[in-house]
Amino acid sequence: MARYEIKGGNPLQGTVTISGAKNAAVAILPAALLVKGKCRIENVPDISDVRILLSILEGLGATVEHPCDNVIVLDCSGISSTQPEAALVKKMRASYYLMGSLLGRFGKCHVALPGGCSFATRPIDQHIKGFKALGALVEETEEYVELAAGKNGLQGNRVCLDMASVGATANIMMAAVLLPGQTFIENAAKEPHIVDLANFLNTMGAQVTGAGTDTIKIKGVEQLQGGTYAIIPDQIEAGTYMAAVTAAGGDVLVKNVIPKHMDCITSKLEEMGAEVINYDDAIRVRSTGKLHSTTVKTRPYPGFPTDMQAQICVCMALAEGISHLTESVYETRFFGYCTELESMGAKIEINGKTATVTGRNHLKGSTVCARDLRAGAALVIAGLSAEGITRVENIHFVERGYENLIEKLTALGATIRRIDD
Ligand code: EPZ
Repeated sequence: MARYEIKGGNPLQGTVTISGAKNAAVAILPAALLVKGKCRIENVPDISDVRILLSILEGLGATVEHPCDNVIVLDCSGISSTQPEAALVKKMRASYYLMGSLLGRFGKCHVALPGGCSFATRPIDQHIKGFKALGALVEETEEYVELAAGKNGLQGNRVCLDMASVGATANIMMAAVLLPGQTFIENAAKEPHIVDLANFLNTMGAQVTGAGTDTIKIKGVEQLQGGTYAIIPDQIEAGTYMAAVTAAGGDVLVKNVIPKHMDCITSKLEEMGAEVINYDDAIRVRSTGKLHSTTVKTRPYPGFPTDMQAQICVCMALAEGISHLTESVYETRFFGYCTELESMGAKIEINGKTATVTGRNHLKGSTVCARDLRAGAALVIAGLSAEGITRVENIHFVERGYENLIEKLTALGATIRRIDD
């Protein structure tokens, strides 16, 4: 298995350019299934989750062109199959979006249950609730979900989510855009990638309003035509690099960001002692590496993102004093990385949904193992700030969501290399 080898202790200096948002791309690519025509999608991150999705779409009959880096031209007009390849579907979580897009286009689908990061149980009952509200018959087994239009067909309806689920919001939106009537999604997720998906669909001719608020309205249309769309920058990738500078010290300009999306992350890093300057489409982060403790509770957007929990925990492990980190989106998320950080000298006490982190003035290099995407990213940050050599194993998790990580960190002065065994 491949691993990273990191020699810590170098402050990060220079400029890093953020890629397109993974969680927007993995929704927008399946959404192209709804379009009869060519979709030119720009700022697509070259990460393994995207490559898997493109293979799935090709397997269904789509044509995929790569005119240049980070641009995909997708034509799903000729798709005939509604059963994506199970082995590929099981490789990632976001393959559940194939349910909504195939149901919305064809009125049926047979999709294996998704795989992906297993830091928590990740049910899809809210997705199913939405599909049923739109008139779908659902067969759900341990292995797959089969959807088909009921005897009255599929039509718009009101869906009130039990929690602001990102996946369910996106899936129901995709299923509804081509249906007769109107659909209202109440208690909808407000993440930037939900807004990005709505903007993509509207660029192709859909009528989605209210994305970014608690209530999204979808007025069904007959057909979506092709067009061109650029994916937003990745809020979590940007936050990861901002946390890396905060922990390792240095002075970095993070380019191609939407500062508004970063507000909650920025304010926490400033509380810990980083200096953050916002520009139109960039953020400068400066840190001496001397950090103060803080308290973080993860929340759905616009709160502090759960996908930044592990990364901010590394900053807390290096901060003077005692910090408190509470996870409120998932039942837990600490076990993917806290033990590994403790092997580097961190002092973390987990009590239910809250971790109490007693800061140390430094971490020491160790061999650690990534257990999910963001846990792996946090271990890289820990290695950058630690004394000595850190080996991060299972880095396939990290490469699911971070484009050109080695190149970007090396350009910032980090000593990091990828070793394939
Ligand atoms: C998306 O996952 C992201 N993944 C996750 O990012 C992110 O952590 C999460 O949203 C929250 O922001 C993608 O977009 C591909 P949810 P998703 O549905 O859609 C519960 C990363 O690192 N829930 O908003 O699975 C669920 O258990 C990944 O990029 C149900 O109970 O998240 C959780 O407690 C990790 N039933 C909460 O809601 C459902 O049907 C939020 O889940 C759906 C969700």
